[in-house]
Amino acid sequence: MARLVIAVSGTPGAGKSIFARALAKKLNAQVIDLNALIQRKKIYRLDVDGTKIANLPKMRKEFIRAIRASRSPIIVEGLLAHLLPKKYLTHVIILRTRPRVLERRLRARKYPKAKIRDNVESEALSIILWEAVQAHGMGKVYEIDVTKLRPGVAVKLFSDALDGKVSLRPGKVDWLEEVFLTNSE
Ligand SMILES: Nc1ncnc2c1ncn2[C@@H]1O[C@H](COP(=O)(O)OP(=O)(O)OP(=O)(O)O)[C@@H](O)[C@H]1O
Ligand SMILES: [Mg+2]
Repeated sequence: MARLVIAVSGTPGAGKSIFARALAKKLNAQVIDLNALIQRKKIYRLDVDGTKIANLPKMRKEFIRAIRASRSPIIVEGLLAHLLPKKYLTHVIILRTRPRVLERRLRARKYPKAKIRDNVESEALSIILWEAVQAHGMGKVYEIDVTKLRPGVAVKLFSDALDGKVSLRPGKVDWLEEVFLTNSE
């Protein structure tokens, strides 16, 4: 089997970095922090509000360079990881976190209100999951609701899915109602 090159994506604050570290330990893999790579290679521009906008073609190029430089299994994590080229990724994991919990986390991080709302809505609407399935197809995408899971348990779940013992097929999470209720309160 080809070496594992696993993308871990999800809304900011979903727990990508923590999960990626735990998974890497289990698989003896190298972690590529996509945000750090974008930063290091200076392949972004600043939006009017100071948000970093990555240059996606350059990000893809740098990623390919990075994986070619290594022979170990790779976990690449970051909120753009699902936008990496299809042909290099063996699996795409999308971590989900209940919008209410996400909101609390982003508040604790002192994110501006508008940014919190955007991210919470994006989570409720499953935007990243949708993008991932569009780009890679259902078969390669694994969805895990990690709201109540310790990282080790989430890793075990994924490895069970690799063994065909459980299904992490996308589409089980539906938080629309929760957000509509919150917004109409
Ligand atoms: N499964 C979990 N259960 C409870 N808390 C978690 C879980 N995963 C992450 N957290 C907490 O959520 C916060 C965000 O985690 P983490 O930094 O891994 O998210 P991230 O998705 O990498 O965020 P970013 O997109 O900003 O890089 C941390 O404070 C972490 O302790
Ligand atoms: Mg992170």
